[in-house]
Amino acid sequence: MTKPTYEEILNIKNKVNIVDIVSEFIPLQAKGKNFFGICPFHDDHNPSMSVSNERKMFKCFVCGESGDVFGFVQKYKKISYYEAVQEVASKIGISIKLDTRSKNTSSIYDKQYEIYDISNKYYQNNLNTNLGKIARIYLKDRQITDEMIKHFQIGLSLNDNKLTKLLESKGFDDDLLLRSGIVAKTDNNVFDIFRNRIMFPLWDINGKTIGFSGRIYEGKDSSKYINTMETDIFKKGTLLYNYHNAREHIIKENKIIVCEGFMDVIRLYTIGVHNAVATMGTAVTKEQLNLIRKLTNNVILMFDGDSAGEKATETFIGLSKDTDFNISIVRLEEDLDPDDYILKKGKDKMLYHLSNPKSLMDYKLDKEKKTLDITNGEDVSKFINKVIPTLSKINDDIALEVEINKISKMTGINPSLIKSRIKKDVQNNQKSDKITIRQKEKGESKYDKAAKMILFYMINHNNLILYYFNNLCYLPDDIDRDLASKIVLFYKKYESFNVSDFITYLEEDTKLINRLTEIDNLDYKKEYTMEEIDGYFKIIKEYSNKKQINELSNKLKNETNEVVRKELAKRIEKLIKESK
Ligand code: UTP
Ligand code: MN
Repeated sequence: MTKPTYEEILNIKNKVNIVDIVSEFIPLQAKGKNFFGICPFHDDHNPSMSVSNERKMFKCFVCGESGDVFGFVQKYKKISYYEAVQEVASKIGISIKLDTRSKNTSSIYDKQYEIYDISNKYYQNNLNTNLGKIARIYLKDRQITDEMIKHFQIGLSLNDNKLTKLLESKGFDDDLLLRSGIVAKTDNNVFDIFRNRIMFPLWDINGKTIGFSGRIYEGKDSSKYINTMETDIFKKGTLLYNYHNAREHIIKENKIIVCEGFMDVIRLYTIGVHNAVATMGTAVTKEQLNLIRKLTNNVILMFDGDSAGEKATETFIGLSKDTDFNISIVRLEEDLDPDDYILKKGKDKMLYHLSNPKSLMDYKLDKEKKTLDITNGEDVSKFINKVIPTLSKINDDIALEVEINKISKMTGINPSLIKSRIKKDVQNNQKSDKITIRQKEKGESKYDKAAKMILFYMINHNNLILYYFNNLCYLPDDIDRDLASKIVLFYKKYESFNVSDFITYLEEDTKLINRLTEIDNLDYKKEYTMEEIDGYFKIIKEYSNKKQINELSNKLKNETNEVVRKELAKRIEKLIKESK
């Protein structure tokens, strides 16, 4: 069997009891018809997650996470959707074999994974051949052992185009090879992109190879590393090097170490540090922060000791401003990167650094002290203002007290004055949070609002699904439109609709599921009148009319043929009439 069908998945879902399954992961308590527990998807202190056997769904009314039993297991265990289905099925004795790589049915994505899998094995094998001799000497000089080579799947690319030929011989056509970023083309020749480089595979969060970084090892005349271009399956900014290997260690130690280069991660592994990942040189992205947040909120930043590393540290701190990360920082001496540091100063010094990182507060204090003179009154005020935002993020009141006293001692400013500044800062933040929420609602156009309401009523009243299909059947936003048409399809096929089964039907389509649960969580009255519904339809029609009128007017502007111009003008006129 490849992937289970919706019917098979639904069958599993109907046989299990969501409360039983969820309570295997978090304690639940009955309250009325529903069960409640501490939400594992945000920093929850009161039981905010409700689980309902009746609706076959879970929902956190604080962070908004919601979904069916598979969604819960998927998110909780950080596994793929189908793995979650498999796990839930196994609990009731149903075994599902997942084989997503059956060749005949494989999608263009699967083919690209296959290409990378073959290339990875090919490169690794090269290193053991006669042609790999110099590369092996290079690796040995860098104290990269056979064990490290094996664990990190390090390989070697050669300059003989054999990989291209190998892949062609396996039936992959040149267009696909080009698209996958493993070959390049000049005139009519396709050839290997990576030539004479030490190859480091880059993996997605599940450990599938999706790209490479290749390092020169002879001569210095070209760029040190070249990376796979962005492809369908490789988006550099959305991954962290070594994430899949480090995942269980990060969870177990409840801590992650973030470095810049993958050589740093590889070296740390040799001294028993297994919870490190690398951003791979580029500025950190929100997606990467989300990957981290799924596993822990304790982050140690250990970027290179040079000024670029300092800058990267600052960027990371800035970007995680609105997260609940507990950041601490290691700055290495002599501009060294972690790899060189371990080789030069030894394991113990590195481990000492890692168990004594600077708190974000101390890091800030040191940094501001470097540029401001805290014996001078004006600078003291600036200094306090600079460190207040970091102070007001400290949740633990004892830790806060300690920090306030420290600053008071440093500057001679009364602790109560510092406290009142913190209070003001917190109030200002709350105010601006409220403003952004209001702006968000304000920023929603009446068309967005109408679409949202139409979807809200459709998922709550089956009869409105066909009413939408027969009378409107269009929404301006791509996701909303897609969602609505899938609701119609589902309803026509199964002759009834409920949110939970529909989520199961959507399987892995997270975009649609997120929008659906957002709408399902809206706190509006469920009763409606047909006048209201028709009102919303009218707003959407008005939008689509306007859009068509605009498009036709633009065509008219550029059209020279008189007959066509007349035809266009007639259509515009008709649309204008309709919209009145
Ligand atoms: P570094 O230049 O710090 O690499 O770049 P490194 O880890 O010290 O590598 P070695 O020790 O010289 O072999 C950090 C990261 O930036 C990316 C790579 O992902 C690297 O791991 N990088 C660097 C590139 O993509 N291209 C480059 O030319 C250089
Ligand atoms: Mn290095």
